[in-house]
Amino acid sequence: METAEDGRLRGPKSSERRRRGCCRPRHPLGERRSGPRYSLLAEIGRGSYGVVYEAVARRTGARVAVKKIRCDAPENVELALAEFWALTSLKRRHRNVVQFEECVLQCNGLAQRMSHGNKSSQLYLRLVETSLKGERILGYPEEACYLWFVMEFCEGGDLNQYVLSRKPDPVTNKSFMLQLTSAIAFLHKNHIVHRDLKPDNILITERSGSPVLKVADFGLSKVCAGLTSHSRECSEGGGMENKMVNLNKYWLSSACGSDFYMAPEVWEGHYTAKADIFALGIIMWAMIERITFIDADSKKELLGTYIKQGSEIVPVGEALLENPKMELHIPQKRRTSMSDGIKQLLKDMLAANPQDRPDAFELETRMDQVTCAA
Ligand SMILES: Nc1ncnc2c1ncn2[C@@H]1O[C@H](COP(=O)(O)OP(=O)(O)O)[C@@H](O)[C@H]1O
Ligand SMILES: [Mg+2]
Repeated sequence: METAEDGRLRGPKSSERRRRGCCRPRHPLGERRSGPRYSLLAEIGRGSYGVVYEAVARRTGARVAVKKIRCDAPENVELALAEFWALTSLKRRHRNVVQFEECVLQCNGLAQRMSHGNKSSQLYLRLVETSLKGERILGYPEEACYLWFVMEFCEGGDLNQYVLSRKPDPVTNKSFMLQLTSAIAFLHKNHIVHRDLKPDNILITERSGSPVLKVADFGLSKVCAGLTSHSRECSEGGGMENKMVNLNKYWLSSACGSDFYMAPEVWEGHYTAKADIFALGIIMWAMIERITFIDADSKKELLGTYIKQGSEIVPVGEALLENPKMELHIPQKRRTSMSDGIKQLLKDMLAANPQDRPDAFELETRMDQVTCAA
């Protein structure tokens, strides 16, 4: 594996409420050291706390994506562990959730495959300690530690790039809505709240011909502990409604996410899994109507709906927090054709009161109905 420059803090506009760490590069970009398992081909993404590379597994020749996270800053470790715990807590695959292959911790010249909750691994325990204590306790100062996440490679870019580089297509929109709903229902059934759903974190593969969405970036996700004993039962379809109710009563308090997709209650810092439903509502509404804004930091055009207040654009969740009675004009553009069923479903997903939103299980049923009828 190679050493290269590392994470970058996201700008304030589209940023997470909870801070992601920032590290200065230790090695100049381009310095390389080869590891035995994967060959890195090219940098494909650079996020707030890591660099993502396209790579090839040397043994099988399979293309993979490898996310490298530098572990000296506790914030980085916290996010890396959140991602690791969420992805390893999934006992089954889902077609619309990015497939995790393995996680390797590289430290002091050693590379060790990480396994969840491995109490016999000193390195794993020290990672947890780093995150809990909020101070650097890993590695020698002169050699940084890295976590390498290996996952399936999504060659089709993200949802912004995919949608905005093509003509509007109602059939693709419907398929994407069903795929996203299915992914979130799967995550919620497995007691994972994603908390950072946005088009940049929805990746695409077209290996099978038609585009397949993959929900990615679990760095802000939360595995709702205490409910996990039911997870096998849930994933096998037993007693699902009760488990959904449980998850939707599991209160979270760290206000995180990205402004334009954050539900009103997330702005207040007291929310449940229903926050993911709100984010999906924003993404789907923007996708159908191609509503975009320009990100203040990256200057990229991003899919996302907002409210206009004079010359300002305000995230829908923030505007609803100020005025919960505000009526959303869905569709926003006169020329958009949208069935009454989809209109109502989007309005319900974006209800100011989370209790008025469908949970992921109800959403699956209703999405099937409205996309069949449309
Ligand atoms: N599995 C993957 N396949 C292809 N590209 C990826 C993959 N994972 C991440 N990327 C690219 O890297 C970017 C950053 O990765 P992400 O997991 O979202 O980290 P961050 O938390 O830093 O945003 C993504 O927006 C995407 O462009
Ligand atoms: Mg991301």
